[in-house]
Amino acid sequence: MEQKPISELMNLSGKVAIVTGGAMGIGFAIASRLAEAGAKVLIANLNEGKSAAAAAALKERGWNVSSTVADVSVEAQVEAMVAKAVAEFGGVDILVNNAGIYPEKLVMESTKEDFEKIIHVNLLGAFFAAKAAAKQMIAQGRDGKIINITSIDALHPSSVGLAFYDASKHGLWGFTKNLALELAPHNIWVNAIAPGGVLTPGTGLGKPVDPALAAMMEPFLKKIPMCRIADADEIGKVALFLASDLSSYMTGSQIVVDGGVLLA
Ligand SMILES: NC(=O)c1ccc[n+]([C@@H]2O[C@H](COP(=O)([O-])OP(=O)(O)OC[C@H]3O[C@@H](n4cnc5c(N)ncnc54)[C@H](O)[C@@H]3O)[C@@H](O)[C@H]2O)c1
Repeated sequence: MEQKPISELMNLSGKVAIVTGGAMGIGFAIASRLAEAGAKVLIANLNEGKSAAAAAALKERGWNVSSTVADVSVEAQVEAMVAKAVAEFGGVDILVNNAGIYPEKLVMESTKEDFEKIIHVNLLGAFFAAKAAAKQMIAQGRDGKIINITSIDALHPSSVGLAFYDASKHGLWGFTKNLALELAPHNIWVNAIAPGGVLTPGTGLGKPVDPALAAMMEPFLKKIPMCRIADADEIGKVALFLASDLSSYMTGSQIVVDGGVLLA
């Protein structure tokens, strides 16, 4: 096999990427790295203003980025998101299922609706997007990449109060593996990234303004061998690896990016 130069391995020019929940946090960091590598990126998010502002911030850097509103838990909105990428950028080559929620609540205080809400966003949302994007990728007849953002909670619980979240992320990891099997004949590679603690607006990690959150996080932070939480770009860089030719022989894998926390 001919050895490509590194610059070519990471070059995503001519590719179209969709990042769900891409307006902030990990999703924004991923959108940023994919756009920098040359991909045309569609940021999809719940909130129109935030989506547009995120796309504008990346466009200012000279990159080709657009935005749309999509609640991933609503299949019609997810199909419209994929249709927008096709209409605006000519196809879909990379899908990053990043949108996710992690409300904390004890099982003993929760309702069926609490459980359903998390499953609808974190698991069904990834299914809707993967199905719509893969359909498009198969019709295009060229390689595709699907990257699911799971969590270390897909492997091991990080704290009490996240049972439904853990169920959704264990589910997403199982979904990743089986979808990788199903889509391999179409040259669509499906992988996951399992972050540990990452500094994002959602977690408020590193900025413990909420004393309850700070108290909950303290034992978790003490367990991290690298003695710090991650910057969102540290997930963005791994997403670039999985979206690019650097990971050409990978499918059905989950990359843990946790500063060693699962070792502790
Ligand atoms: N931050 C962490 O420490 C951490 C650790 C492990 C895994 N993760 C996972 O990474 C992903 C991103 O986490 P984050 O910390 O950046 O979150 P965040 O809350 O900072 O940002 C999430 C983004 O997703 C959007 N979103 C939420 N529900 C949506 C929906 N139904 N449809 C479309 N967009 C929606 C939000 O509006 C927001 O822009 C999640 O799947 C989360 O489970 C995060």
